[in-house]
Amino acid sequence: MKKDKKIFLKELKAGLSKKNKMIPSKFHYDLLGSKYFEKITQQKEYYPTRKEKEILRKLSKKISTLFKGNLSFVEIGSGATDKIKILLNKNIKFYIPLDISLDFVKKSVLKLKKKYPKLKVKPIKIDYSKPFKIPNFKRTTKICFFLGSSIGNFHKKEEIKFLKNIRKSIGKNNYLFIGVDLIKNKKIIEKAYNDKKGYTAKFSLNLINIINKSFNTGLNIKNFYYKGKFNSRLKCVQGFIVSKLNQSFFLGKKMFFLKKNESIQVEISNKFTIKSFVNLSRQTKWKVEKYWQDRQKYFAVFLLKS
Ligand SMILES: C[S@@+](CC[C@H](N)C(=O)[O-])C[C@H]1O[C@@H](n2cnc3c(N)ncnc32)[C@H](O)[C@@H]1O
Repeated sequence: MKKDKKIFLKELKAGLSKKNKMIPSKFHYDLLGSKYFEKITQQKEYYPTRKEKEILRKLSKKISTLFKGNLSFVEIGSGATDKIKILLNKNIKFYIPLDISLDFVKKSVLKLKKKYPKLKVKPIKIDYSKPFKIPNFKRTTKICFFLGSSIGNFHKKEEIKFLKNIRKSIGKNNYLFIGVDLIKNKKIIEKAYNDKKGYTAKFSLNLINIINKSFNTGLNIKNFYYKGKFNSRLKCVQGFIVSKLNQSFFLGKKMFFLKKNESIQVEISNKFTIKSFVNLSRQTKWKVEKYWQDRQKYFAVFLLKS
């Protein structure tokens, strides 16, 4: 069995053996999953992308005054590499997108290269839920990006390890721009995670196909539905796929049971306040340099210094 498949099996079994079953969201991103996510970001209800882009447009005018000299951009979880386009200028010599969905990123980068033929681009596959290294560049200031409020997608304070890991790896006096979705009216949040065209549902249910491609489980997408809810106590959105009937399946030699109406958590999106994110930054020894918000204060982009 290939290494990736072994890891997938191990983490899948671990998540599905929990009392409250879960599957880590990083497994959503095969080529189709990445395309569905891109579609989600284009939906009217999905305010995070719109609001973050509004802030990045404001920022793009400032970036050349904020940082002098040659720069290297490293984007963690870059996906479609759409947002970075807003910020690119002639001082940026290297762009390194790091992502679990490498084939999707490579395709996106082809379009980017057409627009910026002189930019040196090197996509790298990583799993940022584990320790990883930020590539080193000589004679350029390193600027990392972690956009799309992906910092909200960690369970059980794993974001603390993630932020500490980047700070160590990036070295002193470098920077991290990080997009953070803020707590707001529950209805607005829930609409964003239950878009009318059903792309969030397709994205989440696609996990069943991804599992079936690797392991012959016999599970059928038609026997599940998607549900996205804001948990006011935990201040996060939880995305679930729910079993419509009693069913069982094998993963390797282990049998799993799903009761009718039993849910598997496949997504978490923690929401922050400015204060809670400043505290998280300080806790992980990052210095908060500045932050910007959109006009409605739905979203914030923080600039952190190592
Ligand atoms: C929520 S999307 C955000 C995409 C993009 N940054 C944006 O703002 O629209 C998360 C991105 O991170 C990638 N990703 C998710 N989990 C990952 C992991 N554990 N390691 C590396 N990349 C991951 C996905 O492939 C996807 O491109």
